[in-house]
Amino acid sequence: MKVKVFNNYQSICSKAAMLISKQIIKKPDSALGLPTGSTPITMYEKLVSFYEEGLLDYSEITTFNLDEYYPISPDNPDSFFRYMHKRFFDHVNVPEERVHILDGSTNKPKEECKEYEELIDKYGGLDLTILGIGENGHIAYNEPNSAPGSQTRLVELEEATVNSKLSGEINQALTMGIRTIMQSNQILLLASGKRKAEPITKTIKGPVTTDHPASFLQLHPSVTLYLDTDAAAKLN
Ligand code: PGA
Repeated sequence: MKVKVFNNYQSICSKAAMLISKQIIKKPDSALGLPTGSTPITMYEKLVSFYEEGLLDYSEITTFNLDEYYPISPDNPDSFFRYMHKRFFDHVNVPEERVHILDGSTNKPKEECKEYEELIDKYGGLDLTILGIGENGHIAYNEPNSAPGSQTRLVELEEATVNSKLSGEINQALTMGIRTIMQSNQILLLASGKRKAEPITKTIKGPVTTDHPASFLQLHPSVTLYLDTDAAAKLN
């Protein structure tokens, strides 16, 4: 694991956007695994500005979002479909047919998840996946006790996750599995703020355990963590 600590949140996001740019410039038809949540908001702003300034072309990339709530309609303000369009896809030139977000409104979640895995395989796997981390150590919505061999599936969310993220009644999600994420060629995890200090310490220094799903990243050959000083505060 490579760990880089930056002074503040803005720097994490600028550096993350630059790493994504390098990947796209090196391989214009890259397949990217993309996160939502509060952490990557400024990263998407930077990626949009790179496009507006003519520095980056997204016309050949393919994207796979990490997760989506279930059941949820795409136009629900809490949906990751809405988040991604509002913050990124509506402002750049990723072709619509190459944008993949798990369909939270399907009545066949099993089939939806199986097709998602097959699609990722069809594109040759993910080149680069960007992750956030939950206070309980989740990556995507792989909550504690997710198996290392798990694939894209329907999961129950922990109460604390539901309370911190959602306003309504939803307590399930469709998520890429640990295995799906671990098969990505390269992984970048972003964490900012004091509430991430404990989970980040466990991710880097703790045992590899299903109690803390992000700890599985210790087994991946190419993981980088971009942290701000608050998220890195308990590392020494
Ligand atoms: P956050 O969420 O970026 O809003 O902290 C991260 C996560 O729960 O994975």
